[in-house]
Amino acid sequence: MGGGILSRLVIVSNRVATPHRRGAAQGGLATGLLEAMNRQGGLWFGWNGRISENPSPAPALQTEGAITFAVTPLTHREFEGYYVGFANRCLWPVFHAQLHLLHYDRSSFETYLEVNDRWARMLAPLIRPDDIVWIHDYHLIPLGASLRAHGVRAPLGFFLHTPFPGIDLLRALPGQTEILEKLLAYDLVGFQTPFDCQSLSRAIAFFLPEAEREASCVRFRGHRVRVDSFPIGIDVDEVARVARAGHNNRHGRRLATSLAGRRLILGIDRLDYSKGLAQRFRSYARLLEQWPEFQRQVVLLQIAPLSRTEVPEYDEIRRELNGIVGDIHARYAEYDWMPLRYLTRGFPRSTILGFLRQAEIGLITPLRDGMNLVAKEFVAAQPEESPGVLILSSLAGAAQELEEALIVNPYDSGEVARTLARALAMGLDERHRRWEALMGRLRRRDLHHWTETFLKALAGTFLNPSPQEHP
Ligand code: F6P
Repeated sequence: MGGGILSRLVIVSNRVATPHRRGAAQGGLATGLLEAMNRQGGLWFGWNGRISENPSPAPALQTEGAITFAVTPLTHREFEGYYVGFANRCLWPVFHAQLHLLHYDRSSFETYLEVNDRWARMLAPLIRPDDIVWIHDYHLIPLGASLRAHGVRAPLGFFLHTPFPGIDLLRALPGQTEILEKLLAYDLVGFQTPFDCQSLSRAIAFFLPEAEREASCVRFRGHRVRVDSFPIGIDVDEVARVARAGHNNRHGRRLATSLAGRRLILGIDRLDYSKGLAQRFRSYARLLEQWPEFQRQVVLLQIAPLSRTEVPEYDEIRRELNGIVGDIHARYAEYDWMPLRYLTRGFPRSTILGFLRQAEIGLITPLRDGMNLVAKEFVAAQPEESPGVLILSSLAGAAQELEEALIVNPYDSGEVARTLARALAMGLDERHRRWEALMGRLRRRDLHHWTETFLKALAGTFLNPSPQEHP
């Protein structure tokens, strides 16, 4: 890591990219953090992805190069309460504005707090006073407060990869005041966009009126926490290089042959109700209905690897999507043309990036998303000589940066269909102009910039602590 940060970095995230878990199974968060860790080295703590009824009081340690992984299993009860129950049936739907999918019970909330406390007890003895600790995502909001309670003095930073909800959503979440208090125990809280920072500021004014809000800081119970936005980026050259290689691998060539000159529209998302797949498929059907000249000329390939299958709402969205896909096929398919190819399996990263390079249109229309790195990867993967067009939901964090994409409201199927028709008709000059501008943005705020700005800001809180802290 540049910028003279000499402290050891400790990263904590629910998923950890341990050597045995790398590849298709891991999410974008773990991939991004692995980049940072590979560059700087340090300690990475989290769940090993397994269930075990007797977790040892100390984490299992494994060192690979400059990274030491410290991992622990969850018990079945912890998995159900912390991961399924509170993180993914309460925080996730509320943070993604899907209140009808919120399922709260007090015992899940308690288990969520308990797991965070158990992890803090395991991690505290491993943290040295001059470490810098970076905690990730909604599973671990209370971890900072628990670490402090277990005597950790090092600077503690938290980054939320999802959106932060507005007051109306937060009002529906039982325990919201406690969650906010835990968030304010960090030294630095980072969000994907300035919009999320504003949502936190309004939530604090509403739920914790005794907290003092300054420009980019909040003072609460004698502690000052800095709040800022740090939009996550990608390694642009690495994505472009892997996409070029993937384009020409066995899968890339098979896809190209199967298209037989038809134009590829591509969506890549975990199978999650927040991704707006039902709305996306209906918008595509509308394109085929209102612009019949595109029938037989286009293919929508949607890759949606199954995700969180233990959470009942994910089973429901899967069944709903199967129905919609069936309807589209019944209505439009011909014996030699399937308008929609819908796959619920994952592929290696190089294959995905190769597919993105082949696509003329990236159709990324979540109903809500913290950032959406696939949108950025689509741009970086495009061939310079004839770049494709990104259609991006206004409700993804990436839309606040990627202004030259075609921005749509994913709930407006008429607008998405019209935009698809517009993208399919767009000439090379305009595509090129938009792509160049987008690439400039990606390069200015890449993955390295994200880690560096966050860690510098976190180190800065230590140099400039609240009066009674970090003695
Ligand atoms: O983006 C949010 C996130 O929870 C990441 O932390 C994770 O990489 C991804 O979604 C996959 O979800 P899960 O860890 O629940 O399988």
